[in-house]
Amino acid sequence: MSTMLEPEGTYEGVPAYHFDNRLGGPVLSHQQRWDEIAGTHSGFRSTIASGYWVITEGRAVQEALQDWRRFSNKSVTALNPDPKFLWIPEMLDPPLHTTWRRLLGTEFSPKSVAAREPEVRRVAGELIDQLLDRSGVDVLDEFARQFPTLIFMRLMGLPEQDLGIFLDWVHDLLHLTYDEDPDGVRQMRAMTAVSEYFQEQIALRRDAPRDDLLSRTMSWEIDGRPISDYDMHAFCILMFQAGFDTVPISIGWALYHFATHPEQRRAVIEDPSLIAMGVEEILRVYSFVVPARKATADTEIGGCPVKAGEMVMLPLAVANRDPERFENPLEVDLHREQSNHIAFGSGPHRCLGSHLARLELNVAVEEWHKRIPEYRLVAGQDLEQHGNMYGIQSLRLEW
Ligand code: HEM
Repeated sequence: MSTMLEPEGTYEGVPAYHFDNRLGGPVLSHQQRWDEIAGTHSGFRSTIASGYWVITEGRAVQEALQDWRRFSNKSVTALNPDPKFLWIPEMLDPPLHTTWRRLLGTEFSPKSVAAREPEVRRVAGELIDQLLDRSGVDVLDEFARQFPTLIFMRLMGLPEQDLGIFLDWVHDLLHLTYDEDPDGVRQMRAMTAVSEYFQEQIALRRDAPRDDLLSRTMSWEIDGRPISDYDMHAFCILMFQAGFDTVPISIGWALYHFATHPEQRRAVIEDPSLIAMGVEEILRVYSFVVPARKATADTEIGGCPVKAGEMVMLPLAVANRDPERFENPLEVDLHREQSNHIAFGSGPHRCLGSHLARLELNVAVEEWHKRIPEYRLVAGQDLEQHGNMYGIQSLRLEW
């Protein structure tokens, strides 16, 4: 077992460790830690706080994600089994969850997303054009974070001049290290600000609906009743978290990958039709989402005797880097026949935004390489990953 884990004996006959998933580390350490644990364990007990189970067998992770009857979304945070907040649709179980997904499905369908392609491509192109006079930048700050956030704001119908403040909130909510915010005050302040912001945007649309996703959502009825302001708020908060961090992290990984694999970079420049598989493979190999579920009954998964009400952590990396599932699982293979990964999750809560995310990632990689085909990592930078979702925090490239 990894030197990063401190053994604590056993719990109900299963190995127990002082395992804290929130710890940061050097680039790729998160994914490599999961490989190491999955090599010897199908599951273990984390003794952090009130304790939770961690499932490290790929097949079992997918099984739990699909079995909403046994594993509920009432809590999706391993450290917080009884949250006082709600995120819609993520923290709903069927049948209410199914109703929300049906309504939201049209907004995020392949057809609706495809209609946005020209706009998505234009926004990406304009942002990259602004970098052409420079000889290098932190690509997360100057491109990867701005691009999907702008698209998301347009989709929701939020004013674009709020981009800067949105990016500050995302930073304070999701990326502060322990040293930067030891008592969590900045994070809490950002949460309150985001919350108030959405309350205001909802109120504005109650008075005067517009042609945007927020207004359309407010016009829906669920079980014959209009959606309350409370539920609208729970929906906005989830969209903010789901849509704002994931695509920037993935663009960061894509540019990191192509900067460190120049032969693959040249291959996609020569033949851009390889980009689609490149994006899928990068999503798979650099998997960073770690969902969690709450057991509804006593059960067993990954060899762990889970009791009703206990939390299980389900790292997607163990399924996506599983040698039983993929040949050369740790390699981005541009010619793989199929990259049948679960980087967007599996089961009823599979990512609602996957078509949009795929479009944004493909466009980002295509437009970047059309304009800046040759680049490298700035030497001597500390590449660290941390935050809720394990992305690289800062990636300086030069060209
Ligand atoms: C590369 C980018 C993305 C990745 C890797 C990703 C990944 C995921 C994963 C793994 C889940 C399932 C979580 C679970 O099972 O608990 C999820 C759910 C979700 N994602 Fe994404 N996501 C991405 C981008 C987006 C975008 C751009 C949006 C919207 C604009 C979005 C909206 C959602 C929503 C609403 C859910 C909750 C679905 C539900 O509960 O039914 N995601 N995402």
